[in-house]
Parts: sequence; structure tokens; C-alpha cells
Amino acid sequence: MRIVHTLAELRAALAGAPAPAFVPTMGHLHKGHLALVRLARENGGPVAASIFVNRLQFGPNEDFDRYPRDLGRDCELLEGAGCDLVFAPDERELYAEPQTYTVQPPAELAGILEGAFRPGFFTGVCTVVMKLLQCLQPRVVVFGKKDYQQLMVVRGMVRQFALPVEVLAGETLRAEDGLALSSRNGYLSASERAEAPQLAATLREVHRQLAAGARDFVDVEGKAMERLRQRGWAPDYVAVRRRVDLQLPQAGLLDEEPLVVLAAAKLGRTRLIDNLER
Ligand code: PAJ
Repeated sequence: MRIVHTLAELRAALAGAPAPAFVPTMGHLHKGHLALVRLARENGGPVAASIFVNRLQFGPNEDFDRYPRDLGRDCELLEGAGCDLVFAPDERELYAEPQTYTVQPPAELAGILEGAFRPGFFTGVCTVVMKLLQCLQPRVVVFGKKDYQQLMVVRGMVRQFALPVEVLAGETLRAEDGLALSSRNGYLSASERAEAPQLAATLREVHRQLAAGARDFVDVEGKAMERLRQRGWAPDYVAVRRRVDLQLPQAGLLDEEPLVVLAAAKLGRTRLIDNLER
């Protein structure tokens, strides 16, 4: 496996080789990331990953500075998962000058849910993903459903800009107790880690209520948020949405429309997100 840090090295490494399947990451890798690398490998051809903690997608009071970084460990894991090339630029390399050209995703998709609580987040994500796609010129790019709205926003960008890349989605990998794996789980104290699976449990409870015929979404969402609050969480949202565009399901179409339930909540200082498709 080759590890490159500069655009010049990356271009040299890619020259003459078949276009890779690409997994963008911010590092501190876990089995969820590695499952995406395996999915990329199944697609045939070389596999490339990037490790870059993208300042543009962090708010001023978010965890950019304390986001965990361990390139040596990440590269060992990537090699074990069958990755062929790692692009790990530093900030001066990827943002050699201030990144004043940006990609603005539409407010109706990127201003809701995560976008409502993290202003500018999806602009930061789209801008770096667009840039990484230009740098790596992959045939396939792989994203996890764990960040469901991110996957939708990137799919929209690829479609509307006619980017010559196929977007693949990997299922969310979970710990045995149901907690979705996340680089941020490491922030949790032992007692918070024991409580954390309740976010997924809350999503399952919403599913149970929908399956049992509940149709008042505002009520179902409100009850789910209250359940979390009573357990000591500070929920940002629990939302029942249609999968196709993350808008509110239409009353009459509820039983036909594929749905997804999304949630974000803080446990202590740590903000966790999760979702469950129906
Ligand atoms: P990061 O949080 O490192 O996640 C990289 C990829 O791993 C994303 O596609 C994410 O959805 C996926 N992922 C995370 N946890 C997962 C899990 N438990 N199961 C399956 N896949 C999982 O998402 C980002 O980085 C950044 O926003 C990025 C796209 C790299 C742009 O900076």
C-alpha cells in the first residue's frame, strides 16, 4: 500500500493506473470505514482512501481541534482491509490558499436536519468531496449510510454536476449493543458508552410505533425526543422522513413510501447521529 501526502505524489501514483474505487474519510478509522474499503474492493480495481480532517465542515465551537488523529494506526488498518493507496494531505497541501470557491448544496436538502444544527456543514462536505474527486478521479466513490443526509447531499451533487463517478452506499456497522460505530464514540465516558445504544433503541421504538399504525409524526417524534431527554440526552431532532429526498412523508402515501428515521442528540459533550430505514 502506498501512502502519499502531496498532490504531485498522488498524480504520479495514479498515472497510468486504472481509476480507483475511493473511500473518503477523516481518519480515526473503525470497522465501519473498513467495511466501506471492502465494498470498494468488491467493485474491482484498485482501492484508494483519503484521510483528511476537513476544517471547512466544522463549526467554530465544534471538535475540529480535538478530532482524533492517528495516521500510523489508520494506515495499518487500511492496509489490512486491502487498500492500495492512501492520500493523507495536510491542510497546507489541500487548502494551499483559502478555499473561497465553494459548493453550495440546496437549502431544501442541506439546510434541514444536520444542516439546521450545523450551518455550513454540507457546504464544507461538498467542497472537500468535490475537490477530492478532482484529485483522485475515481470510477466509484463509497459513502456510509451512517451519515444518511451526507450520502443524499453528495448523490445530488454528483447528479447535478454530472460528475463521472458512481456513488455506492455501505450499510451502517454497529457494535453488538446496537450503537452505530463512529470516530466520536471514543469521546464517551464509560457510563455514557453504556447509555449510547439508547439512540438506536429510540429509532427502533419509532419504527415499532409506525408499524403499529401511528401516523401522527409530530407526536411520534416528540415522544422519542422526550424519551431521550428523560434519559439525560439533549436531542437536536428525531425525524421521520421519506428516503427519496428527506422531506416530510405525504399523508396518503405513507404505506408505500420508503421512509427513514433520523436522529441527532448530545450525550454529555458528545453529539451522536444515527438513522434507520424502513
Ligand atoms: P468520516 O466521519 O470519517 O466517515 C467516512 C465515511 O465512513 C463516511 O461515508 C461515513 O458515512 C462512513 N461511516 C462512518 N461510520 C460508519 C459506520 N458505522 N458504518 C458504515 N459507514 C460508516 O464522513 C466523513 O468522514 C466526512 O464528512 C468526509 C465525507 C470524509 C468529508 O470530509
